[in-house]
Amino acid sequence: MSDSPILQPVTLGDLTLKNRVVMAPLTRSRSSADGVPPDFAGDYYGQRASAGLIVSEATNISPQAVGYAFTPGIWSEAQVEAWSRITRTVHANDGLIFLQLWHTGRISHPDVQPGGQLPVAPSALAPKGTAFTAEGMKPHVTPRALETDEIPAIVEDYRRAARNAKQAGFDGVEIHSANNYLLEQFVRDSTNRRTDRYGGLIENRLRFPLEVVRAVTGEWGGGHRVGIRLSPATTQPGETPLDSDPRATYGAYVDALSPFGLLYIHTIEGVTQQTRDVPDSVDFDDLRRRFKGAYIGNNQLTLELAEKELAEGRADLFSFGRPYLANPDLVHRLATGAPLAEAPKATWYGGGANGYSDWPGMNGPVPVRR
Ligand SMILES: Cc1cc2nc3c(=O)[nH]c(=O)nc-3n(C[C@H](O)[C@H](O)[C@H](O)COP(=O)(O)O)c2cc1C
Repeated sequence: MSDSPILQPVTLGDLTLKNRVVMAPLTRSRSSADGVPPDFAGDYYGQRASAGLIVSEATNISPQAVGYAFTPGIWSEAQVEAWSRITRTVHANDGLIFLQLWHTGRISHPDVQPGGQLPVAPSALAPKGTAFTAEGMKPHVTPRALETDEIPAIVEDYRRAARNAKQAGFDGVEIHSANNYLLEQFVRDSTNRRTDRYGGLIENRLRFPLEVVRAVTGEWGGGHRVGIRLSPATTQPGETPLDSDPRATYGAYVDALSPFGLLYIHTIEGVTQQTRDVPDSVDFDDLRRRFKGAYIGNNQLTLELAEKELAEGRADLFSFGRPYLANPDLVHRLATGAPLAEAPKATWYGGGANGYSDWPGMNGPVPVRR
């Protein structure tokens, strides 16, 4: 067994984590058409409870937030009940789980929107690429720009989602402000061309995300159980540059987040799944220096790389995404140097328990206490 510092207990705010390994949020599109996670999601998350912390798959705060078919929500009673069963299972297996709060904005499609309406966004600019619908991949459309007076209702949707997450027994929430979904669409000057108080100068572009952070931390009695995900170096969904000055934008964002006392920033170093290369226009070390809470690194990490980053003081916790798809006992495999299984891409999104909650550990099925 490894005595790696990554695998030793650590405190995160008022939580004690078994290790520094975080299960990264992973959308798996196995919920019902009305956004209720299936019972076998309890097995899936329960099997992975040896992670120091699980961040759930991105979860829609409202019907309007949906961008991908079969993704879960946290606005209805049935959704809250289903999530409650999942959090109970994770806790019965000595795990901790945060819910990732999601609004996809323009990265959506009328097929997954209520009444077939257009997706909403800060500005009416179509993203590149395709959307995952019940009928397969379809090209993105030009979204509808939000009216100024519609924005407070979306903040309220975040507030309700944060409250519901608490009711469902989550240990905390992570605000998804990465990968060019709605919050990042407001932050970046290429996707936010608004002329009202939510657009233009960085102070204005940050206004809506900060209103969301205020609402969510308000529901959780402060920032001590609230994290945020940021992807300053992303090029998703394929437009470059997304931002004329990412260093200034994200410096201002992190500074503005400071008064909320957030538990952590969860970054994506480089472009998710694609590269760890970071352009000169982004400085992760500067963001870490500016932020008082914990810092979770991510993207193509290995145990060795995580050890190096920890030794250099570049991150506190380390999230693993793809390795968690097919290795429910990832922590055990990292500790023993066992090989990692790889999940075929066909099983990543959509389907049932197959290729999801039926991956064995090194020593056979991973038992889940109920
Ligand atoms: C199947 C799949 C689903 C993902 N879903 C989400 C998600 O719901 N929320 C999110 O912030 N990132 C999501 N990501 C990105 C991962 O959290 C992570 O940033 C990425 O996989 C890189 O980490 P890795 O190299 O350890 O896989 C997803 C990635 C994959 C492969």
